[in-house]
Amino acid sequence: MRVGFYQFAPKPRALEENLNRIFARLKGVNADLIVLPELCLSGYLFASREELARYALKLPDAPVCSRLANFCAEKNFSLVLGAAEKAGASIFNSALLFTPNGSIHVYRKVHLFNDEKDIFDPGDLPFPVFRVDTVTVGMLVCFDYFFPESARSLVLRGAQIVCHPANLVLNYAQSMTITRAQENRVFWILANRTGTEALGSRVMNFTGQSQIISPEGTVLARASAEDEKLEIVDINPALALNKTVTPRNDLIADRRPGLYFSGAG
Ligand code: ACM
Repeated sequence: MRVGFYQFAPKPRALEENLNRIFARLKGVNADLIVLPELCLSGYLFASREELARYALKLPDAPVCSRLANFCAEKNFSLVLGAAEKAGASIFNSALLFTPNGSIHVYRKVHLFNDEKDIFDPGDLPFPVFRVDTVTVGMLVCFDYFFPESARSLVLRGAQIVCHPANLVLNYAQSMTITRAQENRVFWILANRTGTEALGSRVMNFTGQSQIISPEGTVLARASAEDEKLEIVDINPALALNKTVTPRNDLIADRRPGLYFSGAG
C-alpha cells in the first residue's frame, strides 16, 4: 500500500487557494492514501467563533466536499485532511476521510489545544475506524497524540494505520508520536504543517517534520521543519496486525483492563 503525507503552510482564510494548491500538488501522484495537515483549507488562527464559522464546512453539502470526493474518485486514492466542520450549532476541528467510492468519513478532535477551546466544540465521536480498501484506518487530530488513550482506542478497534493531521507547536510532539506508534504497533502518518501564523498578539510557529512511522517505531520518511514536502512510501499494513512484543507478550492480550483506573465517575 502506498501511503504518504503532503506537508505545507496553508494560507489563512484562503480556502480556494489552499484547495487548488492541494489539487495541483497531488494530481500526478500514484498512491493509495495521503494525509494532509489539520485545518489545511482555512489556516489555524481565528479572531472569534463567528469568523471561524465562515470557513467551516457543512458535510456533505459543502461544494468543497464534492470537489474533493470527485478528485479522489478520479485519482483512485483516499485522502485524509483536517477541516473546520459545521454541524448544527456546533463547530468541530475535524479530520475528513474521502475514499474513491465517494464516501466521506469524519472524526472530530476530542482534545482541544489551548485557545481552540474558545472557538471549537470538543469532538463527540468515540474514535471510530474506517476501511480504506481492505485496511482499517483511524484518525486523530493534532493534540490528541498527547493522550495515549486516543491511539489505544483506535487500535483496540482494529486500526492498522493512524492518520494524524496536525498543526504541531510543542517541540517534543514528533518524538511522542513515535512512542505512540511503538506502544500500539501501528503505522502512523503524521502530516504536520510548516510556517507561522499571527493574529493580534498571538503567534504560532508550526514545526513541520511530518513523518511516517512503522509499528516498530522506525521512521520511514520525514520532512524538514520548514520545507513543503510530499512523501510517499510503500508499507505492508498487515504488519500492524502482529502485536507480539516477546514470544510471551502480546500488547493487546496482556492488557489488564480490570485493574486500570479510568478516572471516570
Ligand atoms: C494542536 O493541537 N493544534 C497543537
